[in-house]
Amino acid sequence: MRYTHDRLALDPVPLDRSLRAEDLERLVATPITEAGNDPEAILSLFEQVIAPAILSVDSTRFLSFIPAAPTKASLLFDMVVSSASLQGISWLEASGAIHAENQALRWIADLAGMPGSAGGVFVSGGSAANLSALAVARETAKTIHGTSARFAVAVSAQTHSSVANAMLLLETDALVVEAVDHRLTGPKLREAIAGSSQPVCAVVATAGSTNAGLIDDLSGISQVCRENNIWMHVDGAYGGAALHAPSARERFAGIEGADSFVVDPHKWLFAPYDCAALLYRDPNQARAVHTQKASYLDVLHEETAEWNPSDYAYHLTRRARGLPLWFSLAVHGTNAYREAIEKVLTTTRRVANLIRQLDHVELVLEPELSVVVFRRIGWTPDEYSSWSKQLLEDQIGFVVPTKWDGETVCRFAFLHPNTTIDIVGEILATMQ
Ligand SMILES: Cc1ncc(COP(=O)(O)O)c(C=O)c1O
Repeated sequence: MRYTHDRLALDPVPLDRSLRAEDLERLVATPITEAGNDPEAILSLFEQVIAPAILSVDSTRFLSFIPAAPTKASLLFDMVVSSASLQGISWLEASGAIHAENQALRWIADLAGMPGSAGGVFVSGGSAANLSALAVARETAKTIHGTSARFAVAVSAQTHSSVANAMLLLETDALVVEAVDHRLTGPKLREAIAGSSQPVCAVVATAGSTNAGLIDDLSGISQVCRENNIWMHVDGAYGGAALHAPSARERFAGIEGADSFVVDPHKWLFAPYDCAALLYRDPNQARAVHTQKASYLDVLHEETAEWNPSDYAYHLTRRARGLPLWFSLAVHGTNAYREAIEKVLTTTRRVANLIRQLDHVELVLEPELSVVVFRRIGWTPDEYSSWSKQLLEDQIGFVVPTKWDGETVCRFAFLHPNTTIDIVGEILATMQ
């Protein structure tokens, strides 16, 4: 309790740094012994050595990959979930937790304009959500094309890497659609489907690409999916939160046509790991695919079964991981969420302006959400790499290079409302 209290109260949160395996080996000889240890000693080992060897994703200076910024309310409630090992498997076992989780899912479904019948489940992450949704898409397509067909999934070069893994597991092939301005569009999708030698079981539209924060042409994609009776999956794992931001909402036009939609509250909806919301337009289709059948589970499916979250993704046992989001939403109110997301969008626009004013850096493309891709004029990949290491060494920021159209460049991903323009200015000054 003391440790968690102190960690929650940290301000600012230090970035910390990962250590080399041999250093950890030297510093932490295994404490797992036959006789056990004093808990104070092991907690102190964790506090002194292990915790500082974990980068703090919730630091305002963590600007790589996709950071995290959970609210204190959600973190506290995560402890409530842990303290009782609260599960959310079936209505029979966990009606209260499921009722509350579904309220949070409903709020998300409404943001996306999904019908009242839409529903789903919180899973561990966007990867698990993409896999579960695409499994439903493929099984649904079999009812049209037969069970022996080998399907393609339409994607773009910006589609998240987890979709490639999902396609491998589902034995489907990628139909890579030529992008327009790095976005998947309706017209190019139509052409690609017409030219495909395989039936297409799903289109993965991205609402906030990881590398650049770009949103595909959702309304064009939705129209083509309807014309061709193809499942439209929208991966908004990172960007979907911006549905709640009036300044970005219109860019998502067409999302209401999605058959399945993913947004990760553990990204830009300020919930702790691990939490991804997976929603289906018609949850019956998902239930037909994911319900596990065993004689000892029959009791879960009797008439008292209002909603069994285990039936909507590839899992059975699951933590009631939607509850921290539910508690935090209920406590802070949705206006506070809107303001926090807008604040991040404003910071992003200000950073883009700052980059335009500086001589040593330039924007690679205009930010659409909260990712800024830019170059340090004249730098080689090695220079980016050594600068990035030094930046972390100096605890000024965690910013790693990426590639854009084959060129090594730099990228900021913002989602902490307290990351200030001053912090970013300090980081950019180190590139001079
Ligand atoms: C667009 C997108 N989809 C899927 C994922 C995978 O999510 P997770 O890391 O939660 O599995 C990410 C992660 O960054 C993402 O940005």
